[in-house]
Amino acid sequence: MVEVINEGEPRAWSSGLRPLLEPEEIRRRVAELGREITADYRGRELTALVVLKGSFVFAADLLRGIDLTSKVEFIGLRSYGSRTSTSGVVEITLDAKYPLVDRHVLIIEDIVDTGLTLSFLRDNLATRLPASIRLAALLHKPARTIRPVPIDYLGFTIPDEFVVGYGLDHDGRYRNLPGIALLDDPAQLRLFEKDGRGSVD
Ligand code: IMP
Repeated sequence: MVEVINEGEPRAWSSGLRPLLEPEEIRRRVAELGREITADYRGRELTALVVLKGSFVFAADLLRGIDLTSKVEFIGLRSYGSRTSTSGVVEITLDAKYPLVDRHVLIIEDIVDTGLTLSFLRDNLATRLPASIRLAALLHKPARTIRPVPIDYLGFTIPDEFVVGYGLDHDGRYRNLPGIALLDDPAQLRLFEKDGRGSVD
């Protein structure tokens, strides 16, 4: 078991998880992104659009590092597919409360995998006539790209492996891990893939 740095008590990774990004590494990179976004949007009011559920941890940390007058909206998306990949069929399960017309919208997303979910969202948002749309994504798996989407603020590029933690889940679990890990047992994933049902959010 590998110990990770956390504020307060050190917390050990559970067995079955292989550490990929330690909490301190994530904290540093997210703070850098916050400073970059602050500089780029200087003089403008930002509307952060947080994509639920996976982005809630990243968004909470990123937004506290952005020194601008900002509003925060949430959007829930469900991508149908197996539990570890999307088919590109996306449904809005919760929509932003206020219109986005003339707003500078910054989408906050946990991971861009195939790009299908984000390209759906960008197309959908464009119809709402915002002043601008940009994307901040914590993780990108370029090897899986089906539809390329421009990522304006990217945390980390990662290999083509399924990751959990810092908001990201597998079958609803592991979102509360302070770091990001690979699931050690690929057989566990295949088990979930077999049924071909489920959804990712
Ligand atoms: P897309 O393939 O880019 O459309 O990604 C769709 C969604 O799948 C993401 O927003 C995540 O919620 C989920 N997802 C993709 N890859 C991973 C992963 O490695 N771990 C956890 N969730 C993932």
